[in-house]
Amino acid sequence: MNEDIRSLATELLGEEDDVFEKNLNDFNVLMMQYQCAMLEVRTKLEVLNAELSVQKARNPFESINSRLKTPRSIIDKLKRYGVEVSLESIEKNLHDVAGVRVICSFIDDIYMLADKLCSQDDVKVLARKDYIKNPKPNGYRSLHLIIEVPIFLLDEKKYMQVEVQFRTIAMNFWASLEHKLKYKKNVKNAESVVRQLKECADAITAVDRKMQRVREETEIE
Ligand code: GTP
Ligand code: MG
Repeated sequence: MNEDIRSLATELLGEEDDVFEKNLNDFNVLMMQYQCAMLEVRTKLEVLNAELSVQKARNPFESINSRLKTPRSIIDKLKRYGVEVSLESIEKNLHDVAGVRVICSFIDDIYMLADKLCSQDDVKVLARKDYIKNPKPNGYRSLHLIIEVPIFLLDEKKYMQVEVQFRTIAMNFWASLEHKLKYKKNVKNAESVVRQLKECADAITAVDRKMQRVREETEIE
């Protein structure tokens, strides 16, 4: 990781010189700020979960995972986008440096949690992509939000972007396996693999909907 940060800083600055250490420090400060925003979003979701588990005796999500984008993948993405490679450019052009993934049991929990999060008065919603209502052609389903949350630093309040992905356990199962398979090179019958993955996605969609109906039938309000 440190090695990676150094290589990123070198790419940001050219060769190592006196300003190198300062910029390396600025990069670490920025990553710390993304880390804090990620914590903030996790806490917001944990608070909602705690309240709902007392009220309704059930948890709207199974688990939360979060990750910071690695320096290597930050720089690769900036280059792929053809934008400037600089700290300012990271904040301006990348929306998923901080990522939170929320794994829910049921489809309606996804919408309920996302709506509660988005309606909090310190949360700014920059984008919302509903790949559950409109799945990607390969079958990928999830609800994606790009939000901004404030972090309170020693001398300032700063809004930071966080990507939040909501999925059911079944959607996550599919996306995890599809992601692994995508990186297998030289697959024979590539077309057949794509078709079978789409079939799996459709089967999983049917299961999610059925589980949702079963839950509605067993719900005691
Ligand atoms: P990225 O450049 O990947 O960030 O795509 P984007 O900016 O068009 O955003 P999008 O909302 O489509 O996807 C963001 C993230 O969702 C990705 O980084 C993945 O984590 C996840 N994702 C999107 N599409 C797929 C997919 O087809 N399969 C899997 N496994 N994950 C996906
Ligand atoms: Mg992304």
